[in-house]
Amino acid sequence: MFKNTEIGIDLGTANTLVYSKNKGIIFNEPSVVAIDLNTNQVLAVGLDAKEMIGKTPDHIKTVRPLKDGVIADFDITAQMLKHIMKKATNSVKVAMRKPNVVVCTPFGATTVEKKAIQDAVSSCGAKRVHLIEEPVAAAIGADLPVEEPTANVIVDIGGGTTEVAIISYGGIVSCHSIRIGGDQLDEDIIQYVRKTYNLLIGEQTAEQIKMEIGYAPIEHSPVSLDVRGRDLVTGLPKTMTIQSEEIQEAMTESLLRILESIRATLEESPPELSGDIVDQGVILTGGGSLLNGLQEWLSQRIIVPVHLTDQPLEAVAIGTGRSLDVINQLQKKIN
Ligand SMILES: Nc1ncnc2c1ncn2[C@@H]1O[C@H](COP(=O)(O)OP(=O)(O)OP(=O)(O)O)[C@@H](O)[C@H]1O
Ligand SMILES: [Mg+2]
Repeated sequence: MFKNTEIGIDLGTANTLVYSKNKGIIFNEPSVVAIDLNTNQVLAVGLDAKEMIGKTPDHIKTVRPLKDGVIADFDITAQMLKHIMKKATNSVKVAMRKPNVVVCTPFGATTVEKKAIQDAVSSCGAKRVHLIEEPVAAAIGADLPVEEPTANVIVDIGGGTTEVAIISYGGIVSCHSIRIGGDQLDEDIIQYVRKTYNLLIGEQTAEQIKMEIGYAPIEHSPVSLDVRGRDLVTGLPKTMTIQSEEIQEAMTESLLRILESIRATLEESPPELSGDIVDQGVILTGGGSLLNGLQEWLSQRIIVPVHLTDQPLEAVAIGTGRSLDVINQLQKKIN
């Protein structure tokens, strides 16, 4: 008898990762698809498609089929998953026949949104599809002892959502999910540059600004960056020098909402778990947690220690894959 391959998928708003129990991470690329509108064919998926954002002629459209952690366009997500499974299979050079798949969903997802994620994964040939809550996957991936009766606090700042969860005994004790993450910070930067300088910049440029000179609200040595975009008055290309303090200011409101959501979750912690939280603190994961100065800022603002996990971009995928071994126990506790 052949044993079915087992894989975990982190179908994220910004990045999709596939984890195989035996091979580790076998796919890790942006959740972007490029489509030829004349033929309706998929031209590129992942990194190749992300490179094309904002640069294509009219008949080619680049789409991010997930928004806020859930599926915004079902057909394109299903097509993207088919391509991803093919690429992942090629990369390990082993045919994955009817794999058993675990896929994570944001805590805040509705039943309909969860079903759509499950159906999209089923449609690309999975034998069985299990769902796991993203914060639980993140905690497993961050090597937290989720099965034990101690409080594990995870803060997962992704592209579309931030989820803050207290996990104990393999289940979520308390969780706040807000639809604010790295994408919102990019949007804040686009709006700021537009309003202040009448300069229109693209998503990719905004993300680059955030990563290079974006800081959480902490003191830092100011840096600047030359930014290119389209002048809204003349319609011509223009380069402006932007300072890190301006970008910091532009992102502050969204970052404060993330802070509020962490505080609200901690305030809901059952008294018996409060001691653990004070001792062990909060673990940051997700790409958004890599923002310059974020860990330091949060440490100043909440009185418990704040740690950054080793692999913030991969933790959810690793945890999703590893949860295969404990999926039955976990599901019983989650449901
Ligand atoms: N060095 C960095 N500084 C700031 N932000 C970063 C950095 N690296 C990645 N990011 C941001 O992290 C986000 C992607 O993180 P991640 O891959 O965890 O999201 P996701 O899992 O796809 O999204 P979600 O969980 O919301 O569906 C993007 O917004 C990206 O811009
Ligand atoms: Mg994520």
